[in-house]
Amino acid sequence: MARISLKVNGKARTVETDPETPLLYVLRNDLKLNGPKFGCGLSQCGACNVIMDGKAIRSCVTAVKSATNRPVTTLEGLGSTKKLHPLQKAFIDEQALQCGYCINGMVMSAKALLDANPKPTDGQIKAALADNLCRCGAHTRILRAVKRASGQKV
Ligand code: FES
Ligand code: FES
Repeated sequence: MARISLKVNGKARTVETDPETPLLYVLRNDLKLNGPKFGCGLSQCGACNVIMDGKAIRSCVTAVKSATNRPVTTLEGLGSTKKLHPLQKAFIDEQALQCGYCINGMVMSAKALLDANPKPTDGQIKAALADNLCRCGAHTRILRAVKRASGQKV
């Protein structure tokens, strides 16, 4: 066990845990941030994505020790039900989900994309989301939602 200092959604947090524990488990179980989801646990689906140092990463295969004092943003850090982030609003406006299980990962990958490239092309959005799996087949609406959030015509 070790004491690990984290910076999550702009707040300093400290946890006592095995340093090899996946960041996903610490976020969900210790910090009660349930935006990131456990899908595969094998870096294959993207449901667990969070943003660290500006990049979308798989929190299921990231040891918590590697997040020490690095800025981590989860879905909870984007907006709230009272004040939605533009991506969250666009996903609702486009009804871009069915079961919703993949949507945390889709939104976080899209956030990293739009932060780096505010007006992406359809091809760039598809490439950025290519490693996020959606078993419900909501891809077309997800693409529209990301485009809408970027302020481009859908
Ligand atoms: S749960 Fe992390 S990639 Fe699937
Ligand atoms: S909406 Fe169900 S997995 Fe994507």
